[in-house]
Amino acid sequence: MAEFKEAPAGASALTQATVWLENRFPTAFDAYRVHMSEYYAPKNFNWMYFFGSLAMLVLVIQIVTGIFLVMHYKPDAATAFASVEYIMRDVPWGWLMRYMHSTGASAFFVVVYLHMWRGMIYGSYRKPRELVWIFGCAIFLCLMAEAFMGYLLPWGQMSYWGAQVIINLFAAIPFVGEDLAILIRGDYVVGDATLNRFFSFHVIAVPLVLIGLVVAHIFALHDVGSNNPDGVEIKARKDASGRPLDGIPFHPYYTVHDLLGVGVFLMVFSAIVFFAPELGGYFLEFNNFIPADPLKTPAHIAPVWYFTPYYSMLRATTDVMVNWLVGITLVGGVLAILLGGLSARGKVVIGVAAVVFAGLLKTFDAKFWGVVVMGAAVMILFALPWLDRSPVKSIRYRPSWNVWFYGLFVVVFVVLGYLGIKPPSDVGTLISQIGTLFYFGFFLLMPWWSRIGEFKPVPERVQFQPH
Ligand code: HEM
Repeated sequence: MAEFKEAPAGASALTQATVWLENRFPTAFDAYRVHMSEYYAPKNFNWMYFFGSLAMLVLVIQIVTGIFLVMHYKPDAATAFASVEYIMRDVPWGWLMRYMHSTGASAFFVVVYLHMWRGMIYGSYRKPRELVWIFGCAIFLCLMAEAFMGYLLPWGQMSYWGAQVIINLFAAIPFVGEDLAILIRGDYVVGDATLNRFFSFHVIAVPLVLIGLVVAHIFALHDVGSNNPDGVEIKARKDASGRPLDGIPFHPYYTVHDLLGVGVFLMVFSAIVFFAPELGGYFLEFNNFIPADPLKTPAHIAPVWYFTPYYSMLRATTDVMVNWLVGITLVGGVLAILLGGLSARGKVVIGVAAVVFAGLLKTFDAKFWGVVVMGAAVMILFALPWLDRSPVKSIRYRPSWNVWFYGLFVVVFVVLGYLGIKPPSDVGTLISQIGTLFYFGFFLLMPWWSRIGEFKPVPERVQFQPH
């Protein structure tokens, strides 16, 4: 057991109470030092570093407002819709809890997409932070599951038909698909059993995993230390006492810095909650104000905006697209054999793999491959630390054309998202197909393009101008 500390003579009651507590719960005080007052973060963080703490803030908002919603919500197909209306109209402050929760769902994705983007442009996923990134990707998967299941709960038309469409996608998986879809629904159609299990997962199972992953994410980060906009490792240069020369204690410096982000975020968040909670049908779809009707399919079913880039990729995977993929696979195989500098054995392996994959593409129907493409678009993020072979981390020191290329990636992602909201059209499908190929090309060809061009010299110390 650690030595008992003594409060200095004449110490205030507060100091005495603190010493009393520290003697009985040193772990909490150690945790505060390791993660706050003695966690040395690079001094050159910019506004892109707000989004980690903002994601934590939104997580808290979702949990607290969720607890109040559950007090009045009824997870029963016969009463769910009415119970949400009851919360909105009769429960004191119920409308505020509900709008904070529904706006919070979208805010979560805005903040997390920006947080991931920051990681991408500064190379924060590179060694030694691969695990931080992997925990982040797992968080992203959980968030998607959490949002999807939460969306069924109000039991409106979009809740019902959105769930119907997405669960039916699983039925396209060969051999096990039909059984899997029944397992998810708990019935042959989306119904009361589905609502009950989604409720259970939404309020307890997924949030528990999510919180566990967030803790692992931050512990893993604090073990290796934060990256920064220059991608320079501050731990490489320490003073005599072992503190990084370019590091500053997280508390109070970054707690105060992050408060600015929190202030701006809360202004935007409140403006939406109080003045435009539906945000033109993007945060709360208008069709969802109509109770679920299994006998009336809405003319146009679209998921909420944060899923639509992936939904676009699913819709882009038509028979024509599958033919394109067959062509790309075969041409890619031939190029690898001719130009890849492979051994004779390597050439045979690549040739056989390309032919087998092309054969598989033609064996199963496009709907199944659509599901694979949609899943792969998320799963590929896990591989990012190993796809990027650039000699530098941060975009600041990469070839200038990388800025445009990463910018184009954002444009493509946003366009895919926009097209996923709109009803399908010939032009829209073509653009989605090009966008999908770009998205996968960006990642799959990264081992090649990330090494090309003229890299700028990376400074030894972080760049920082006091302001
Ligand atoms: C609930 C969701 C999340 C929460 C609460 C969260 C929280 C945090 C916090 C507090 C930090 C440290 C502060 C900062 O660097 O901004 C951080 C860093 C980081 N997060 Fe997340 N995160 C979440 C989701 C994600 C996701 C989805 C990814 C990526 C797929 C991700 C990747 C990273 C990376 C790479 C870092 C290190 C950044 C650096 O050092 O430059 N996070 N996260």
